[in-house]
Amino acid sequence: MTAKLIDGLALSKTLRADVAARAAALTARGHQPGLAVVLVGDNPASEVYVRNKVKACEDNGLYSSYDRYPATLSEADLLARIDALNRDSRIHGILVQLPLPAHIDSHKVIEAIAPEKDVDGFHVANAGALMTGKPLFRPCTPYGVMKMFEAYGIELQGANAVVIGRSNIVGKPMAMMLIDAGATVTVCHSKTRDLAAHARAADIVVAATGRRNLLTADMVKPGATVIDVGMNRDEAGKLCGDVDFAGVSTVAGHITPVPGGVGPMTITMLLVNTIEAAERAAN
Ligand code: GUN
Repeated sequence: MTAKLIDGLALSKTLRADVAARAAALTARGHQPGLAVVLVGDNPASEVYVRNKVKACEDNGLYSSYDRYPATLSEADLLARIDALNRDSRIHGILVQLPLPAHIDSHKVIEAIAPEKDVDGFHVANAGALMTGKPLFRPCTPYGVMKMFEAYGIELQGANAVVIGRSNIVGKPMAMMLIDAGATVTVCHSKTRDLAAHARAADIVVAATGRRNLLTADMVKPGATVIDVGMNRDEAGKLCGDVDFAGVSTVAGHITPVPGGVGPMTITMLLVNTIEAAERAAN
């Protein structure tokens, strides 16, 4: 079997056209949507992600501000900047790129963001709202994965889904969204005893571990849908995911590539959340 490719780049283009139209409509009413991006330190991967987020704003008619701080920035100064952004009426969404340097308490920083500007959906109020079935902002990566399932007609109701990874950014909110959609969800992680057995029983596998080639063909049920959230580099420095794409694509029914799969969808859903924040503020 050769898996059908889930094209995150193509789906992103379609969704971004709608984002651009909504941004233009808001701008015409004097409410251009605005995203503030904050990066602390010089993690090279974070720099690339943040640059792509700022560029996506420019390309689609959103206003953006970009604050770059050295790794020595104090927690108090970061909290003061967030407070200023919370009060800034040009800014509808605030994104503080994670991870933060070790001397800064990321929980404290996330909780300082006004929940109505928390377009990452990481604030406890937003995490709680998602968990109780009334989300204000859904975390962008799992939200983008849900859009992929929808666009490709992947049946979730009654499906066995395995999420590999238990982060607050991907694994946990992904599990919540899949439960809400009627899937039977198993969350696996580094302490799981027999990952292969869990994965082999799944109709849907979402891999979000940051470990290259974690998911191999022998771990996948024929016809399953495989979503690769990983962003790793191979020995040659080439971008690759958590899934052995060459092997798994001969077994799976649907598969996402890296690059060109989940990555562009994450940024697209960040734009969608920012537009929604701006629409709420304008109405
Ligand atoms: N680091 C890795 N992914 C993300 C994300 O979606 N948002 C933020 N703020 N930081 C991240």
